[in-house]
Amino acid sequence: MTDRPPVCDYEGSDYQTAFWDAGDRQYEDRVEEIALRRLLPAAGGLLLELGAGAGRNTPRYGGFERIVLLDYSRTQLQQARQRLGDSARYLYVAADIYRLPFVPGLFDAATMIRTLHHMANAPLALQQVRQTLKPGAVFILEFANKQNLKAILRYAFRRQSWNPFSLEPIEFAALNFDFHPRAVRAWLAECGFEVQQTLTVSHFRMALLKRLLPLGLLVRMDSLAQWSGRWWQLTPSVFVRAQVKGGAAPAPEGQFFRCPECGHFPLNNEEVDHLRCSSCDRRWRIRDGIYDFREAAE
Ligand SMILES: C[S@@+](CC[C@H](N)C(=O)[O-])C[C@H]1O[C@@H](n2cnc3c(N)ncnc32)[C@H](O)[C@@H]1O
Repeated sequence: MTDRPPVCDYEGSDYQTAFWDAGDRQYEDRVEEIALRRLLPAAGGLLLELGAGAGRNTPRYGGFERIVLLDYSRTQLQQARQRLGDSARYLYVAADIYRLPFVPGLFDAATMIRTLHHMANAPLALQQVRQTLKPGAVFILEFANKQNLKAILRYAFRRQSWNPFSLEPIEFAALNFDFHPRAVRAWLAECGFEVQQTLTVSHFRMALLKRLLPLGLLVRMDSLAQWSGRWWQLTPSVFVRAQVKGGAAPAPEGQFFRCPECGHFPLNNEEVDHLRCSSCDRRWRIRDGIYDFREAAE
């Protein structure tokens, strides 16, 4: 359906244990939890978690009836499934954000945390997300901010060649991008979102501060400082709450998946371990509780 930009592949990665569990990142985890709580509606129906990884944030969506965890990596989803279990509240979907396998207008809400920074074509990814959402749906997006204080100082003292104030993304490592807040706002507006709230997060992400100050104090200071995101954004991480404005129709009653290759729906579910597209005849695997829409089955 669309060209496929490259994917930052987490297959087999120990991201959750190495980066979060053993990586001294309690501060980042707790301040992200606060931002999410502030931005996400307290209750809702169906929520799509894009780039869910090992499900670190999923327990934070407790007010939603059903959550679809979507990630490109099957092994990340397996870890999430181990952590969260097989309750009917969770559906595990391996798919590419650039080729989402859902009928348009399906979800009441979506979140995308620490995932946009892997998108080589961020506007295209945001358009795909927008299509899956109902009119009025809420989208919570976290992105890595190129205009952060550290980058500004490094640029001012000629320790960094790229300009933190220019609008284009900066790829600081392969398939890792920082974005300018103004560029992200423009992309969101172009695809029909209205940004309602902006929080700046992780003001004190500095090894020295984390060593010197108690965790609780840092978290409380960040919690207060987050509100300043309304006026300026100089933190490494920014959270926005955006809402779908007009132009979208809700999904037809009872429809859920579509073929990510040709867009046809409904998919035929007569086989237990596959969904089949009656238009292009591709088959999509269901294995160990995970729907797999990355590559069609042979
Ligand atoms: C840094 S991790 C964040 C995981 C989780 N959101 C969190 O905050 O703990 C980024 C996740 O995005 C997923 N991802 C990257 N590119 C993707 C794509 N094109 N489609 C679907 N998932 C993707 C990766 O597999 C990985 O699990």
